[in-house]
Amino acid sequence: MRVGITGASGMLGTALAKHFSKSYKVFATSRSKGWEGRGIEWDCFNLTNIDLLNKWLNKIKPDLLIHCAAIVNVDACEENIRLATALHFETTKTMSDYVDLNNSRLIYISTDSVFDGKKQGAYNELDFVSPLNVYANTKLMGERYVQSINNGLVLRTNIIGWTKESKISFAEWVLKSLVEKTQLSLFHDVYFSPLHVDDLSPIIEPDYFEKGVAKNFKNYWVAQLEYSDLVLSISKTISNELKSYVKKTNWHTKKNIKYDFIKLGCNFYNNDLVDIKVLRQKNKYLVVGSIEPRKNVVTVLNAFELLWHENYDLTLTVAFNNSWHEESLMARLKKHPLLNKKLFLIFNSSDRELAIEYHASSTLISASVYEGYGLGLAEALNFGCNVIASKIPVYQELYKDNVTFFENNPADLKDTIINQLTSKKVLKEFKPTTWMSASDQLIRKVIGH
Ligand SMILES: NC(=O)c1ccc[n+]([C@@H]2O[C@H](COP(=O)([O-])OP(=O)(O)OC[C@H]3O[C@@H](n4cnc5c(N)ncnc54)[C@H](OP(=O)(O)O)[C@@H]3O)[C@@H](O)[C@H]2O)c1
Repeated sequence: MRVGITGASGMLGTALAKHFSKSYKVFATSRSKGWEGRGIEWDCFNLTNIDLLNKWLNKIKPDLLIHCAAIVNVDACEENIRLATALHFETTKTMSDYVDLNNSRLIYISTDSVFDGKKQGAYNELDFVSPLNVYANTKLMGERYVQSINNGLVLRTNIIGWTKESKISFAEWVLKSLVEKTQLSLFHDVYFSPLHVDDLSPIIEPDYFEKGVAKNFKNYWVAQLEYSDLVLSISKTISNELKSYVKKTNWHTKKNIKYDFIKLGCNFYNNDLVDIKVLRQKNKYLVVGSIEPRKNVVTVLNAFELLWHENYDLTLTVAFNNSWHEESLMARLKKHPLLNKKLFLIFNSSDRELAIEYHASSTLISASVYEGYGLGLAEALNFGCNVIASKIPVYQELYKDNVTFFENNPADLKDTIINQLTSKKVLKEFKPTTWMSASDQLIRKVIGH
């Protein structure tokens, strides 16, 4: 993977460059050179020169961009609003447009300063922003643009760490003053939760999977593709993605390799054999699958908390068989004040139990950020359940006419659910595929090849 880091000579940028260069090719930039390790390629220029920025992007062709460059000195931003706007907004817009056009990804490092600090207690992602100065206002302008693209992530953080000699961070200033026994004038009414930059760096790592899985999976594919005549995927979107990835990364394949796809079956439980008599409940919502970052169940829970707060009488059942990298979400679910009242958890359900859930629920919700097929959607539709789903390419390819889409954030999911409660819109009937026909397709495509 090719990772571009702006502000790479800064406090966070240096930590990121060190961390990411252990596993990836890193392209670093800032006006002056920072840490020079193996696997890091430096280009020094003023980022606000948009022509140079575009040239750099087109040269490095990043799979992931991490935008750290900023003027963190609040007074300097007040004194030069134009420069703060250029660095925090205009460069972010350019990077977002690049990422959107080239199907890359952008992580925009933002700040807790977008809040005014008037809230009693800790802030969360859904709290209203209220920036108080030019620094925070211009950082927020950058945030807004990143949120408008498909593959952008805003990370509001507060950090501590050590800087290069010419600069001094807050932590260093405190330590230095203590060592020198200088009196410090500090505050007594400010609370924040900074992360050390070395702790933040692994969190930013883009892998949704366990360490090593992506690398092993890639090695497996490199080996497979070298000898394959035909690569069958489970959707056209994935087939096209693989094809362009292979082209972009110059993986070695046979000259006449073909890419095609088949449709999966969704009849996992035979209705005709065992009669299930359950009434569909109008206000019963269902989430099915593993609990992992990719499935984005946190967005669904956040949306339901907003709905419950507004007294909507709806229930949410989360049926899952496994979970990883979602410790805080699991803790939230298990200790939820509405657990077994409006929120229900089903662990490792049998096929029959799952079929009953599909029968009884009005709507399945999927907020996934990435899928290969989304079999749960096909299964739910096959059982006559409505579906509300995130607007990801695979879902748009396979379920375009059968499901209601939402922009992947809690507020939009909440509005979509409320609209759906009163909507008379009739969606096209879903035409399910059986596993028998899926096997037929597979055989035909392999033999016919
Ligand atoms: N520090 C904090 O307490 C804090 C708190 C919350 C959020 N954040 C956010 O975290 C991110 C990283 O902060 P940090 O503390 O690591 O910042 P930092 O140490 O001040 O580093 C800023 C980086 O931006 C580069 N830069 C500044 N102006 C530039 C320009 N015109 N063109 C190209 N590069 C430029 C600087 O390099 P050159 O000067 O060599 O160009 C430097 O590499 C920022 O986005 C900030 O908003 C920081």
